[in-house]
Amino acid sequence: MELRTRPRRLRMHPRLRDLVRETRLSPDDFLLPLFVRHGRDQRVPISSMPGHAQLSVDRLLPEIREIESLGIPGVILFGIPEHKDATGSDAWADNGIVQQALGAIREAGTTLLLAADVCLCEFTDHGHCGVVREIGGRTDVDNDSTLELLVRESVSFARAGADLVAPSGMMDGMIAAIRDGLDQAGFSHLPIMSYAAKYASGFYGPFREAAESTPQFGDRRSYQMDPANANEALRETALDVAEGADVLMVKPAISYLDVIRRVKQAHPDVPLAAYNVSGEYAMVKAAAERGWIDEQRVTLEILTSLKRAGADLLITYHAKDACRWLATD
Ligand code: PBG
Repeated sequence: MELRTRPRRLRMHPRLRDLVRETRLSPDDFLLPLFVRHGRDQRVPISSMPGHAQLSVDRLLPEIREIESLGIPGVILFGIPEHKDATGSDAWADNGIVQQALGAIREAGTTLLLAADVCLCEFTDHGHCGVVREIGGRTDVDNDSTLELLVRESVSFARAGADLVAPSGMMDGMIAAIRDGLDQAGFSHLPIMSYAAKYASGFYGPFREAAESTPQFGDRRSYQMDPANANEALRETALDVAEGADVLMVKPAISYLDVIRRVKQAHPDVPLAAYNVSGEYAMVKAAAERGWIDEQRVTLEILTSLKRAGADLLITYHAKDACRWLATD
């Protein structure tokens, strides 16, 4: 039979390939995570995340200027406090590390969106994402007393100048609690991006070095999701939408493309973020350093795949490099 339909016809002219491309990356897609630490004039490199460092507040400001100039719309802040305690009190202290950073950036002025990660694991001495106590013979995170602290933290970040809060603790009911708390404190206009489907993943390893948030005992499997489950992600995201989440998130990203796709199909009208996490970044960097892969090609391919799967915004440590590459592409 004569071949009438020949898909290759559309691939032969480079400009025609451009015209029929279905998915496009743009600097507008990215949010860049930043780690802020106490001290002055500090830039402490994160060995497992080449190109990233813990920055003191004063060193954060030039970084913000560079991010603005690259056209990245915003950053998501993570704080490493000087002192940790059982309840993570620096997380909601008026002079907490994230609050200081928000205040300084606000004072300096910025066009960037300032998002703040809302969790307790960086602030607790045990490294868990909430208050721990004996529950049924096990030491575990107590859901409901943690909610109160997450509300305090969110309101405190809002007062300090956050434009968006992003709760990542995977506590049941956290979105409703934070929404109520923000509304009562006069922040009904402040959006919430929920880490709605966050898996108990080995890919967070480098982040825990970066944020100094490794649990001192046990793991996070009683609150983060089982990597084997995808239907459960639909349940988690539906609950968060009902509770008032403005943006949903799937995390990690590369091993969860099916989840991204299914969540987008279930909630086509809600913006969806994919968090391309620290371990995903570290693998690309390590292989590229060895000359085993082409970093630019692989990175842009990964980021494109997240959008193709259904993500609307991409939280990625590659954001600055990706913007530079997109500008010269
Ligand atoms: C919790 C939080 C984590 C990440 C983002 N928020 C770590 C965890 O759950 O252990 C991981 C991000 C990454 O690996 O890049 N505050």
